[in-house]
Amino acid sequence: VTSPDGDLRARPYDETTDRSWLEERIGGGYGAGHLQVRRGELIDVLLGEGLIAEREGRPAGVALWRTEPDGSTELTYLWAFESGRGTGRCLMTGMIELVPRPIWVVTTNDNVEALRFYQRLGFRLRELRLGAVDDARRDLKPSIPIEHDGIAIRDELELVLDSPGADPN
Ligand SMILES: CC(C)(COP(=O)(O)OP(=O)(O)OC[C@H]1O[C@@H](n2cnc3c(N)ncnc32)[C@H](O)[C@@H]1OP(=O)(O)O)[C@@H](O)C(=O)NCCC(=O)NCCS
Repeated sequence: VTSPDGDLRARPYDETTDRSWLEERIGGGYGAGHLQVRRGELIDVLLGEGLIAEREGRPAGVALWRTEPDGSTELTYLWAFESGRGTGRCLMTGMIELVPRPIWVVTTNDNVEALRFYQRLGFRLRELRLGAVDDARRDLKPSIPIEHDGIAIRDELELVLDSPGADPN
């Protein structure tokens, strides 16, 4: 996968060679570590499959996913190390070509950038879980931040990209 500006490529995530540097990078970056909570469950996002974006041969972002028993794909982690340079779109375009749909993702109420980003790619909102992040912070992961950009982080929002031609209702 290459991006319109040409210098951005996506290659498969390889747990054996990528796990250690990515674990360190994610630990100090978006999402406070590779153990992520959603739907009341803690998961290791580095156990899945994924894509690594590289700009001029250096890591520029990561998308990780896993296939669910029902055949859908959960996007478990997405982080463009530098935003607004097409990295997120490059990763998602690559992922959408590779994985079975529907593709779903859980984000949090504060993440207006992600809500914009996913909807521009065609994702639709399908669920709001009030207080799910408060519950996760209390029961599973105390390190989840309290706020971001002046917005209290409290609720989970789930978005889905259905199969082409699927009835949106
Ligand atoms: C949300 C996130 C993944 C989006 O990724 P991104 O790399 O910033 O997104 P892109 O650059 O591909 O696209 C965003 C906008 O940047 C602009 N853009 C895209 N390519 C660009 C380029 N080469 N130069 C300048 N601007 C560009 C466009 O306005 C684009 O929107 P559009 O393509 O829909 O018109 C990223 O902001 C991020 O990692 N956030 C923190 C982690 C996070 O919240 N992850 C999601 C958790 S659920």
